[in-house]
Amino acid sequence: MQGLPIPPSSTPRRVLLPFEDRPALSFATNDYLGLARDPRVIAAAQDATAKLGWGSTGSRLLSGDRQVFHDLEGALAQWKYKDMALLFGSGYALNLGVLSTFWGQGDVIFADRLCHASMVDGIRLSGAKLIRFAHQDLGHLRGLLAKHRKGYRKAVIVTESVFSMDGDCTDVGGLVALKQEFETDLMVDEAHALGVFGPHGEGLIGADLAPKVDYIVGTLGKALGGMGGFVACSAEARETLIQGARSLIYSTALPPAIAAAGLAALAIVKTEQRGATVLAKAQYLRDRLTVGCPGAVLGESHIIPVVLGAQVGEVSARLREAGIDCPAIRHPTVPKGQERLRLSVTWYHSQADLDRLALEIHTDFELH
Ligand SMILES: Cc1ncc(COP(=O)(O)O)c(C=O)c1O
Repeated sequence: MQGLPIPPSSTPRRVLLPFEDRPALSFATNDYLGLARDPRVIAAAQDATAKLGWGSTGSRLLSGDRQVFHDLEGALAQWKYKDMALLFGSGYALNLGVLSTFWGQGDVIFADRLCHASMVDGIRLSGAKLIRFAHQDLGHLRGLLAKHRKGYRKAVIVTESVFSMDGDCTDVGGLVALKQEFETDLMVDEAHALGVFGPHGEGLIGADLAPKVDYIVGTLGKALGGMGGFVACSAEARETLIQGARSLIYSTALPPAIAAAGLAALAIVKTEQRGATVLAKAQYLRDRLTVGCPGAVLGESHIIPVVLGAQVGEVSARLREAGIDCPAIRHPTVPKGQERLRLSVTWYHSQADLDRLALEIHTDFELH
């Protein structure tokens, strides 16, 4: 690639940062519970690889299916209080597959303005009409439903339960009421809530709400420390996806070791309740950061955005020099003026780690 001209671009270039180059103290990871390096999870992956081989060798509809995928799907469905679950190669592939299978031309999708790119891409692929409502604004959504719902065949409300860049929590009960009033489906992405919220780490949607949410989606790539996406839904919906979801049908199944590791991680999540500790640590850090911070300190979860605007890149670089990894989230991932540090607090951060970060950030503000 050397010597090739780089096309001029109005957006900053993205860079790849190998794990080895990252500072020792990281607030960048989605491994919220420390399971990516848990010996029990690693052992499960090793055992499965030894027994079943590394690759799955094909799509699940051809040579790629394994019992361990079904075992994991059963455990995920039970965890999410739904009848069935279906595994995809990633959360991205899953959102593409679910949205483009169930909705199409003549249908309408009401999506929170800050929904993840994988949902936006799935909606575009579906061909359905996209109507966006202001972030977490159920009053705005209600007005849009009243105005537009009748003009379309099928409709769905799409959102996240804990937003990836804002760390705020959704009123899923309020959405259920709207879904019932306007006869729509409801699809909620629990990617960032899984493992952290709920008495068994099951996320924000517990036993009371789960039957009322048609499609609960998630990823094993964050708190579960591995990879793979899943949808928890009815048996009928699962069957429709097997017949129609192109990102499932035309893609190699995950290595069986990934599913075995997912099962091991899920067992730890359910029994050890690490999420409560993570949330308590996050509140501690949020309290320490809020005092004297020139930008807004947001979120009500383990994700703490510190909104600094255009200077965020410089602050992130200086923290990096001080040995702390706090990723800068820039436009277009967030709107202009909303550029932020996105801090994720994890199970393995000590109080000293949190104090060190707070001190470095405050010192940076005082000096610059
Ligand atoms: C809300 C949300 N949904 C889906 C995904 C995609 O999940 P995966 O990383 O498993 O593809 C992400 C990951 O960035 C996410 O934040």
